[in-house]
Amino acid sequence: MPLKTWPDMAEACLATPIGLRLQRWRARLVDPLARRLAGQGWIGEYWRFYQAWRADPKGIGAVLPSSPALAAAITRDIGAATGPVIELGSGTGVFTRALRARGVPEETLALVEMDAGFAQRLRRDFPHAQVCCLDAARLAGDPLFYGRGAGAVVCGLPLLNMPLRQQVGILRGAFSQLRAGGAFYLFTYGPRCPVPRRVLDRLGLRATKRQTVMLNVPPAHVWKLTRRRTARNVL
Ligand SMILES: C[S@@+](CC[C@H](N)C(=O)[O-])C[C@H]1O[C@@H](n2cnc3c(N)ncnc32)[C@H](O)[C@@H]1O
Repeated sequence: MPLKTWPDMAEACLATPIGLRLQRWRARLVDPLARRLAGQGWIGEYWRFYQAWRADPKGIGAVLPSSPALAAAITRDIGAATGPVIELGSGTGVFTRALRARGVPEETLALVEMDAGFAQRLRRDFPHAQVCCLDAARLAGDPLFYGRGAGAVVCGLPLLNMPLRQQVGILRGAFSQLRAGGAFYLFTYGPRCPVPRRVLDRLGLRATKRQTVMLNVPPAHVWKLTRRRTARNVL
């Protein structure tokens, strides 16, 4: 089977003789130390993320949390005046902290995270935000901010690992929460927008590449999706 995604490649590397040896070394030396440090600072954060990735590589979609540089890039158009912001796939909260640093009040943040462990920790770290432990494809329906449309969606989801139907469900749900003029920001490790052209056309969306971030493992690209002005809008 061709190795298309980052988690596929990482899994394949871990299955080589050197990868297996590294895993044994990690289990003997690194794991006990990391368990001690878990809960403390960035080491604890990286450890929790790595453990979540080991339990569900495709669902988590990355071995490490995003870097502060990527968090700064994906939130760069967002500020206190943007209005409510929805974050999809918050993980350990790297983007959430960047949004707070940009002046977005915690009360106007909705964090959608499917992993129960991450969601529990997010509730502790951001007690005034709405933390929704659910599949982001189920966002359509109840407005998250009592009818006040969101100004931006920041997406940390591994879209490339998802079937097209789930991607479409996520975009439909997210745009149903976004007010007119609102934007959907996402990142990807590949050179192209992770949402295929035919999906953008079907949903009447426009994709613009915003920035390439080299200071991330691996380097990443930030994209912005908006509703097309001229197209018959489906969203
Ligand atoms: C690549 S990690 C990104 C985490 C964080 N935003 C970052 O950049 O470090 C993807 C996150 O999306 C979450 N996730 C994956 N599929 C999801 C879904 N369908 N609905 C909600 N969250 C999901 C995972 O649990 C994980 O926390």
